Amino acid sequence: MLAEMVSALAPRDGGVYLDATFGGGGYTRAILEAADCHVLAIDRDPEAIGRGRQLALDEPRMTMLAGRFSAMAELAAAAGFGRLDGIVLDIGVSSFQLDDAARGFSFRLDGPLDMRMGDEGESAADLVARLSGDELAALFREFGDEPEAGRVARAIVARRAERPFSTTGDLAATVAAAKRRVKPGRDPATQVFQALRIAVNDELGELEAALHASLQLLAPGGRLVIVAFHSAEDRMVKRFIDERSGRGRTISRHLPVVDGPAPEMRFLRRKAILPAPAEVDRNPRARSARLRVAERLAADDPETDRRLAA
Ligand SMILES: C[S@@+](CC[C@H](N)C(=O)[O-])C[C@H]1O[C@@H](n2cnc3c(N)ncnc32)[C@H](O)[C@@H]1O
Repeated sequence: MLAEMVSALAPRDGGVYLDATFGGGGYTRAILEAADCHVLAIDRDPEAIGRGRQLALDEPRMTMLAGRFSAMAELAAAAGFGRLDGIVLDIGVSSFQLDDAARGFSFRLDGPLDMRMGDEGESAADLVARLSGDELAALFREFGDEPEAGRVARAIVARRAERPFSTTGDLAATVAAAKRRVKPGRDPATQVFQALRIAVNDELGELEAALHASLQLLAPGGRLVIVAFHSAEDRMVKRFIDERSGRGRTISRHLPVVDGPAPEMRFLRRKAILPAPAEVDRNPRARSARLRVAERLAADDPETDRRLAA
């Protein structure tokens, strides 16, 4: 989605942009190539932060910040940055994280059952040990769309009574043995691993906070570009922008539109942008990507305009 992201963000000379999910730095580099601008980059992963700091040594137009993107407004302010011309989020796990067995994200590579992007909080092993069977089933259903969530949760609870889960291989094998139906071409543990990763890293809570923070940070006319890989995340982005653009106010089409606050954002395109078929062929992980782009609007009233400009 690199070309689509650059075209949606439309960076211009002299602008300041936030890449809130630095990862391997692909987006940051593409933005810096597209315009003579400055990129403020954030990541919570110590290895990504190291890569970003390395890049910043040779690239004075880039600043690397360590932390969560939910705190983007505080991080940008502490680094001395004011209103921004654009923000991009490429949410989810990076291939660096996925392809490193030691990080514990992969059901294909055996490693510790960790899945933490940052270096704090509960690991996936802690979560699998702590949650009740019902809680595990709800988690697999909600964050993984796992159709056999109950069966898988029961198998996990039975197995952990004998021995706690400590490796990805161990969990993947238990999930595979519990499932009756598996989509062809898909590993049986895909959805369970996705659900655990989303919970371990509080990915939906982080996204919700980032959406609110983006309103605070973007200058009028500034763009918010979000690439999401999970339907719950894409729904959250769409609903937030709809609400902030004044669309979320109709309770029913039979009732009059309730007057609410002035729109703060607008979709530049109502429909999500999907990856080109050639990209999906090259990288099957991109198949569920959805890109959304919105623009921050200037407030109608002079008081809010003054607050935005401050
Ligand atoms: C899909 S990768 C981004 C890849 C990047 N666009 C590139 O071109 O290399 C997502 C990155 O965001 C980071 N990340 C995910 N959630 C985060 C959060 N809440 N706060 C900060 N970084 C986060 C991950 O650690 C990971 O490095």
